[in-house]
Amino acid sequence: MLAHQEQRDGAYRHIRVQANDDGFGAEITGVDLAQPLAPTTLDEVKRAWARHSVLWFPDQPLTIEQLEAFTLQIGPYGVDPFVRPMPGHPNVLEVRREPEEKSRAFGRSWHSDWSFLDRPPAATLLLSKITPPVGGDTLFADGQRAYESLSATLRRLLDGLQAIHSARRSYGPEGSFAKDKERHSMPIITSKDAEASRTHPLVRTHPATGRKTLYINPVYAIGIDGMADEEAKPLLDFLFARMLEERFIYRHRWRQDMLTMWDNRCTMHYADGGYDGHRRVMHRTTVAGERPV
Ligand code: SIN
Repeated sequence: MLAHQEQRDGAYRHIRVQANDDGFGAEITGVDLAQPLAPTTLDEVKRAWARHSVLWFPDQPLTIEQLEAFTLQIGPYGVDPFVRPMPGHPNVLEVRREPEEKSRAFGRSWHSDWSFLDRPPAATLLLSKITPPVGGDTLFADGQRAYESLSATLRRLLDGLQAIHSARRSYGPEGSFAKDKERHSMPIITSKDAEASRTHPLVRTHPATGRKTLYINPVYAIGIDGMADEEAKPLLDFLFARMLEERFIYRHRWRQDMLTMWDNRCTMHYADGGYDGHRRVMHRTTVAGERPV
């Protein structure tokens, strides 16, 4: 509702914003991302992003260089460990799956990008280059409304907790990628470095809006500081289940040349697969984030 009101009231003068009814996710049109955006336009894009967490821009046939240039307008590049970047483009990953591939699609578990880093990326930008005729959706979960749906008593408890994040289950020597013997068309790197862990507040505050959000995900959040596993696991599982209730999910359907930009600080996402026998190719960048607080 608020989004429609913002549109009516002329809060956006340089872009068109068509938000989902619950405010989570919005389509942005009236802008050409191949050109540098005027400061007022860029401000509006950033404001819409802070408000709606997931933005998609249809009909943006960007070259890799144009994707890089737009990413840098949002902010400096983030760090992308464990996947080798595209040759000649150290900050661009190619998310590719070939028709005959049998391995699990990259990103096919609920996660927030690289949350095990000291400063996880604020944004991820994903540009669809080859879109399969069926499947290939990306699902997003809204950590802010999930947090706000909890009782005040539970929120008070969670506000004081630190979650433990690690890449070990995915990229460690014993992790899922190391154990997967299927051919993978993405250059994934598995390493002992993935064994490291660090804590982040289980509830973080969005730097642009001051809104609180659950900041955990089932891939990288492996425990809660100061709690035994048998205490932490049921609590984390309860919170994951809450975040994954249908009312907090947006299913994103891709079209060719669509750019989607999401906020890793307050969302999780999931690559849904369902396109075996077809090729899917995306170009992906990240924007650096702050240390979660
Ligand atoms: C990702 O998790 O970054 C990839 C999402 C997707 O391919 O839909």
